[in-house]
Order: sequence, then structure tokens, then C-alpha cells
Amino acid sequence: MIIEPKTRGFICITSHPEGCEKSVLDQINYIKSKGEIQGPKNVLVIGASTGFGLASRITSAFGSKSATIGVFFEKPPAPGKTASSGWYNTAAFERIAHEDGLYAKSINGDAFSNEVKEQTIQLIKKDLGQIDMIIYSLASPVRTHPVTGVRHKSTLKPIGGTFTNKTVDFHTGEVKNISIEPCTQEDIENTIAVMGGEDWEMWINALKKENLLSDGFKTIAYSYIGPKLTEAVYRKGTIGKAKDHLEKTAFTITDSLKDINGKAFVSVNKALVTQSSSAIPVIPLYISLLYKVMKEKGVQEGCIAQIHRLYTERLFLDEVPTDSEGRIRIDDLEMRADIQEEVAQLWEQASTETLPSIGDLEGYKDEFFNLFGFHYDEIDYSLDTEEMVDIPGLQ
Ligand code: NAD
Ligand code: NA
Repeated sequence: MIIEPKTRGFICITSHPEGCEKSVLDQINYIKSKGEIQGPKNVLVIGASTGFGLASRITSAFGSKSATIGVFFEKPPAPGKTASSGWYNTAAFERIAHEDGLYAKSINGDAFSNEVKEQTIQLIKKDLGQIDMIIYSLASPVRTHPVTGVRHKSTLKPIGGTFTNKTVDFHTGEVKNISIEPCTQEDIENTIAVMGGEDWEMWINALKKENLLSDGFKTIAYSYIGPKLTEAVYRKGTIGKAKDHLEKTAFTITDSLKDINGKAFVSVNKALVTQSSSAIPVIPLYISLLYKVMKEKGVQEGCIAQIHRLYTERLFLDEVPTDSEGRIRIDDLEMRADIQEEVAQLWEQASTETLPSIGDLEGYKDEFFNLFGFHYDEIDYSLDTEEMVDIPGLQ
């Protein structure tokens, strides 16, 4: 079929298999061009199909020849209907990994459930024996709790007072004010239940109980801090409470891994265009200004460059460098004082009229559509494309 982008609200509901393959191939080539990494050998990536999780899977496989198991929640294709982009990304990743002689298998289902954890345990037992690293990179709006059965919904709201600031609809380029009403105590608890550390800890406990974690095992989850501009709605809002919880959980997990010399880390990553970040109010305007400044200064990085730097300059050093809270920081370039000052100045000037010149709105849009395999010059989107693509190692 001929596949074109169709957007609904913040998301794109179609995706292009060849475009997704190109985005995966670009990331693989980036990692291959950087040479071998002394990294993990048997890796489980939870949230492996898009964004930082996919970049972590690619870096593990093509940087240090890791065997990888990927867990994700993606929509398969149906005749005349495209799969979600994470499906096509994984299909491309596994095909290329297998061609290179790498072990790569995947599980598509709800990572929060007992069933998917059990299925993953069985697969590790059958194929790999033990895992030496788990990357936890889920971003989800909902979680059904495996013990209580309660379906928690996360929110992106300020705490204590109404938040009013600028935002952009990046599809139309319109900059306008939005106001977000403060959350309730329940919103905080629900957001912590979805995006906090409880499920991460459940995964580690489940695998450890089965003796599936090797000596010296590492696990890492991703967090975000960001600037003053977004603080009320991000780091000091409901999602920030969940990130506080996630960061605390790293210490709890590390304590539970003492007998196998294991350690849990949180890495604070840079703001990037992903399916999740596009849905957060204010963040797209911030990112379009940030990209402009970081590109001008020659320090812009995508997911794959971020994770490559995480592996080569942080996580696998003898001493892992962390901040005073014990977090790994790869948001250091985003948070540089000169960059933040410029973004704050541009923020004052940002309007529908000025944004195309003072911000990287086009770059934002291209990256957004790239997530779904669109806006690549190399691809002829007028041609017929096979939508029924299989993931070779899907369980
Ligand atoms: P993403 O939307 O690109 O990826 C989310 C992944 O989670 C996908 O693989 C998806 O299939 C999977 N997933 C979602 N719900 C699932 C479920 N129920 N079961 C199994 N898999 C499920 O998101 P991302 O931006 O890469 O975010 C990953 C992590 O990085 C998050 O913790 C996020 O907060 C963090 N982070 C993101 C940014 C950013 O700017 N995008 C910055 C710093 C940190
Ligand atoms: Na991810």
C-alpha cells in the first residue's frame, strides 16, 4: 500500500516500514562507525522499540555484540493497516542483527504484567542463562497494577498552583498560552504508580529470584530534569514526583543486589523528540528552541549519540561518574549555562511569527515524522510498500 502520515492530536497513527528501517540503519551505522565498546554481553531492554530504549538495544548489540531480548508494546500490522513504528523498528533491528550473527528476540506485550515477566524469564532460561544488564526505558500513560488490578493513569500536571506558559502546536506552528490546573493528591499517586520505580524493582526481583542475574549485573533507568522554564509542569509536577521515586528506587535495587555485586543506575538524559515527549505541554516549544541553540553550538545529540556517550564515557568506566544525588548525567550539554541562558532569552521572544526563525521548528517536525519513518529525502513515499512486515525473533 501507499503509506502517508496521518496525525491525530500529538501522535502519528501510521508509520512507514522502509522509513523506520532507515532510522534504525542510521543508528546502527553510527554505532558501528564508533568502534567496539567494552559493554554488556546479555542484555534485556524493557521499552526496546523506540526512543532511548531502542538506542540502548542498538548500542548494546552493534557496539558490544550483545545478545538482546527486547520487550515492548507495539501494534502489529494488518492487511491495509500499518503497524506502529516500534514494530517496524524492531523488525529492521532484528533482521540486521541476525544477518550480523547476533542473538535478538522480542516479546510484545504489557511489561507491567506478571505474564510478560514470566514469559521473559522462560526465554532467558531457555536461551541465555543469565543477564548482565537490564535497561528499563518504559514510557507509558497507563499501568494496570499486577497485584491490585487497579488501572492507574499518569498525568502531566503542576502541583499546588495553576501553571500558565507558552506552548507550540508544532503541526501548525501556532504559539499560544496554555494554563494547566493543579493536580490532586490522587494524580500524584497514580503518576508515581505508572512512571515511578515500582515496576522496575518488580522486574529485578523477579529475575533475581530465578538466579538469572549474573555477578556484577547492572541495571539502568532513564530520567529527566530540564530547565526552570518547564519545572512547574515537569520536574516539580506529577511526572517529577514519579522521577523522584524512580531515582530513589535505584538505591533500593542496589541494596538488593549486594550479594551479586550488582548496581542500579539512573541516567538523566537530554530532552529529545520522542513519541512520549511530544505529548508533554510546553516541552515541544522548549525543544525547538533548545535544538536551534545546540545545533548552532555544534553540540546537538540524538538518542543514539546520547546512549553511545552513556556507554563509553559513563556506565562502563571503572568509576562511574555521578552527580551529588548519585545520578549519571548525560544532560550536561543541554544544561550548560550558556545554552540555558540563550534558550531563556529566546523563550521571551517566541511567538507564532518569530518561532520559525528563532527556533528549530522544522527540525522538530522532521524529527517527529522521522519517528514514524516519514520525512526522509531518500525514500519515495509515492511507491507501494509492503505493510505486512514480520519481526523475525518475535516470541
Ligand atoms: P518512547 O515513547 O520512545 O519509548 C517507550 C517504550 O516503552 C517503547 O518501546 C514502548 O513500546 C514501550 N512501552 C510503553 N508501554 C509499555 C508497556 N505497557 N509494556 C511494554 N512496553 C511498553 O519513550 P522515550 O522518550 O524513549 O522514554 C524512555 C524513558 O526515557 C522514559 O523513562 C522517559 O521519561 C526517559 N527520558 C525521555 C526524555 C525525552 O526527552 N524523550 C528525556 C530524558 C529521559
Ligand atoms: Na524507549
